[in-house]
Amino acid sequence: MAGAEEYVPDGAGMDELRTAVHDCRGCDLYKDATQAVFGEGPADATVLVIGEVPGDQEDRQGHPFVGPAGKLLDRALVEAGIDRTQVYVTNAVKHFKFKRAERGKRRIHQKPGRTEVVACRPWLLAELDTVRPELVVFLGSTAAQSLLGTSFKVTQERGKVVSLPDRPERAVATVHPSSVLRSDDREAAYQALVTDLKSAASTLSGLQRQARR
Ligand code: URA
Ligand code: SF4
Repeated sequence: MAGAEEYVPDGAGMDELRTAVHDCRGCDLYKDATQAVFGEGPADATVLVIGEVPGDQEDRQGHPFVGPAGKLLDRALVEAGIDRTQVYVTNAVKHFKFKRAERGKRRIHQKPGRTEVVACRPWLLAELDTVRPELVVFLGSTAAQSLLGTSFKVTQERGKVVSLPDRPERAVATVHPSSVLRSDDREAAYQALVTDLKSAASTLSGLQRQARR
């Protein structure tokens, strides 16, 4: 598996990338998924939020974070004071990974492996190069480890400002909204997510103040 590199057009704008991703054969996930789900949001967004992989609803509809995790994310962003219209939302991996339930047609989400995350990274880097956000928000370890390496621990670093290797952007990592939905204490997990996103919001305003000086 060669990865997505050869499928990402050089110097492409957002529209061209969004079209080209549908022809990607950088790993095997395109074979069973309905379609590639690219990021969405303003091409000049100040915040770029990275999730893991499209889920069942995202795969069907072709848009990121439109299912239950996305609804929760939307609510948490509003509560943290992050302007949704300023946010570009994407995933570390662009094709849905799933297995079929033994009975019935239900498709069960599977976590992408390191090979798929690395294979898909050129798309993520192309999105970053196009949007050039002021701040990156990682939702969960798959997203964070895509750019920060496998030793990065979200549990230890959540809510803190980190630098990206070889890139100008600052980033804040938090948990994935799906983990909030799975949590035994959903309310506490949700509040902890909002707290991290508030830290992202204040990091962003700090960066913007610095830039104006
Ligand atoms: N979970 C993700 O990581 N991304 C989506 O787009 C939806 C659910
Ligand atoms: Fe290409 Fe990423 Fe889809 Fe794999 S998951 S085929 S690398 S777009």
